Amino acid sequence: MTTAIETSGLVKVFGEKRALDGLDLTVPAGTVYGVLGPNGAGKTTAVKVLATLLRPDAGEARVFGRDVIRDADAVRGRVSLTGQYASVDEDLTGAENLVLLGRLLGHRKQQARERGAALLAAFGLTEAGERQVKTYSGGMRRRLDIAASILNTPDLLFLDEPTTGLDPRSRNQVWDIVRAIVNQGTTVLLTTQYLDEADQLASRIAVIDHGRVIAEGTKGELKASVGAGAVHLRLRDAAQRPEAQRVLSRVLAAPVTLEADPVALSARLSAEVSEEGAADRAGALLGELARAGVHVDTFSLGQPTLDEVFLALTDRPANQEVPA
Ligand SMILES: Nc1ncnc2c1ncn2[C@@H]1O[C@H](COP(=O)(O)OP(=O)(O)O)[C@@H](O)[C@H]1O
Ligand SMILES: [Mg+2]
Repeated sequence: MTTAIETSGLVKVFGEKRALDGLDLTVPAGTVYGVLGPNGAGKTTAVKVLATLLRPDAGEARVFGRDVIRDADAVRGRVSLTGQYASVDEDLTGAENLVLLGRLLGHRKQQARERGAALLAAFGLTEAGERQVKTYSGGMRRRLDIAASILNTPDLLFLDEPTTGLDPRSRNQVWDIVRAIVNQGTTVLLTTQYLDEADQLASRIAVIDHGRVIAEGTKGELKASVGAGAVHLRLRDAAQRPEAQRVLSRVLAAPVTLEADPVALSARLSAEVSEEGAADRAGALLGELARAGVHVDTFSLGQPTLDEVFLALTDRPANQEVPA
């Protein structure tokens, strides 16, 4: 296995704030690696250090074996970054931007035009390509940013919160783009606050909080680490939810979550429960619900979601800011 990124004990301090506080990461090449953490966790700082834009205060970081400080030029030649630093010019059209950036990268005019047109087409921006960027929607703008970052196919692409603020349809378009980029052999380090995004795209995930990795593994490993699983129920009748909640908390001896959907509720089984034990409890639960006259429409016993993982690891929801 080739390693794309390896950091050990990485520290970056801003005044009193330890934005990175001993960050250890190992990112295998050829996949999407998810760095998941709430606002202020240190994601952008980590990306900037790895992309050689910021100097760490302590620790080491290597990208494809090259040190990000001593060998910064070599690192820069292999990485590209999309994120909160927009490189595109609002007054130019999408196509003009890509040609200009291509020329800056040393492409000949014809080559720059062709590459730009191919990327616009691949990202569904052919028509928009003729318009000034300031007329773009958030989703179109984000796609253009990503297109700009892969004019030269990088070995490693940093996508820093590529879908923050996008509507669901645009998010899906960006996800498809990320999958296509990885299929062409680029390693992607994707930061996100969205657990479902990491779930959709990443092979491995590091959960970071306060500048440190608090959990790492494949999605399955992360989910397994917080327990045997979770029970999800949908009822026929929302009026029966309080009764269902009472039965769940009695039979499972676990806190019950009422979902936004008024007929849905769920409970996470405690980490001590084995897989068999979980199935037994689920059986008992269905019996008790039937006895209580609660009509269950759908029932599932599944692995916990990444949201539940984050909550279990940090005692706070993933969308909440890091306390100061
Ligand atoms: N240039 C800076 N000056 C001062 N504080 C900073 C700077 N950049 C980041 N920070 C602080 O470091 C912490 C981590 O920030 P950041 O890496 O941007 O987090 P994330 O990208 O996960 O939201 C935050 O508390 C942030 O306020
Ligand atoms: Mg950030």
